[in-house]
Amino acid sequence: METPTEKAEKKLIVAMDIDDLSQARDLVKELKDSVGLFKVGHQLFTRSGPSAVAMVHEEGGKVFLDLKYHDIPHTVKNAIEAAVALKVAMLNVHAAGGSAMMKAAAEAARSKARAITVTPPILLGVTVLTSLSDADLADVGFHSPVAEEVTRLAALAYASGLNGVVASPHEISLIRRVCPTEFLIVTPGVRLPDATKDDQKRILTPRDAIHAGADYLVIGRPILQASDPKTAAQKIVDDMAGALV
Ligand code: C5P
Repeated sequence: METPTEKAEKKLIVAMDIDDLSQARDLVKELKDSVGLFKVGHQLFTRSGPSAVAMVHEEGGKVFLDLKYHDIPHTVKNAIEAAVALKVAMLNVHAAGGSAMMKAAAEAARSKARAITVTPPILLGVTVLTSLSDADLADVGFHSPVAEEVTRLAALAYASGLNGVVASPHEISLIRRVCPTEFLIVTPGVRLPDATKDDQKRILTPRDAIHAGADYLVIGRPILQASDPKTAAQKIVDDMAGALV
């Protein structure tokens, strides 16, 4: 039987918002036994490309490729196939790209994984970026409030065959009203009670986010900027584990 700490470790995703591949490698070496996945996003991928993904694998870690694809279905399908060939464990598209695009992405992930005999990656939809307010949405022509937009896009992502969504911890209960519990919720915006918030505005603690129903937490600066990243990650895991006993 898995202990609450082991369960919590698998749910922690470290956002490697770092420029430098050798610094990223040191981080993976240090944390790979105490966290679930390493997020490779625009910053590291634009600098280092697929080498960043290969590096995590060489060190024995798993990758969440956070490139938030948003394009026509044909282009997204091809990008997803390329990402699956890198053997990432998790990746994402913008749900606002529409149902046909998400269906093409889900089908591409399944069929490419089958063709190269790897486990299909977890495919997530980004609902509404947490940096956007109701007024920002109205500026770009979306006149529903954020909460309504998130709920609609999460339901569309589920109906289109995605495995889950990326959303703020404050949106978990809204999403759970329209999507079943096996539909995964991955959430940033998480901080320990005594930590600095950085630029995250609406935060929850790790324990509260898990209580609310988050399946994975994405945490960057509280780990990357700590003098001892391993201890920082362990404190977060301990807090999460409190909700998993
Ligand atoms: O450093 P911090 O813990 O705030 O990092 C959170 C990570 O989650 C960053 O990589 C950020 O890009 C990502 N993220 C976010 N809010 C979203 C989507 C992704 O903070 N809505």
